[in-house]
Amino acid sequence: MATESTFVMVKPDGVQRGLVGQVISRFERKGLRLDRMRMLQIDDELASRHYAEHIDKPFYGELASFITSGPVVAMAWTGESAISVARTLMGPTNPAEAPPGTIRGDFGLIITENIVHGSDSSTSADRELGLFFG
Ligand code: RTP
Ligand code: MG
Repeated sequence: MATESTFVMVKPDGVQRGLVGQVISRFERKGLRLDRMRMLQIDDELASRHYAEHIDKPFYGELASFITSGPVVAMAWTGESAISVARTLMGPTNPAEAPPGTIRGDFGLIITENIVHGSDSSTSADRELGLFFG
């Protein structure tokens, strides 16, 4: 048992499609607590810092242009095992393979446009919370 904080972001497709409220609702009904929230437009520099682990991947160009394509909603959520719980609520990376009941499974279809980001470890959570809220 450990209380954690994790970084969650509604990506540009989720904001543009009007899914911010539904994403927030799912985290709230699970029992996580919303601690911080801000809307912003990610620029190329922040994209490269946030997705530093992916810079050398073949999909980075597509990922960076997508994540900078419109406003995002950045959030900090806190609660028991918040990092893994948030990832479970989101579902697997590829929405085409994500099961119904997950955010990506219920709302997404294409891997780049997968609606939400969530930190994948406590190291990532600390780093990402610092990047967006530090
Ligand atoms: P995220 O970081 O956005 O929460 O997603 P994730 O942990 O589930 O997946 P990750 O491996 O970190 O990949 C980051 C984002 O890159 C896009 N992606 N595209 N075209 C591709 O093969 C591919 N692979 C990954 C996805 O939008 C993914 O969310
Ligand atoms: Mg990731």
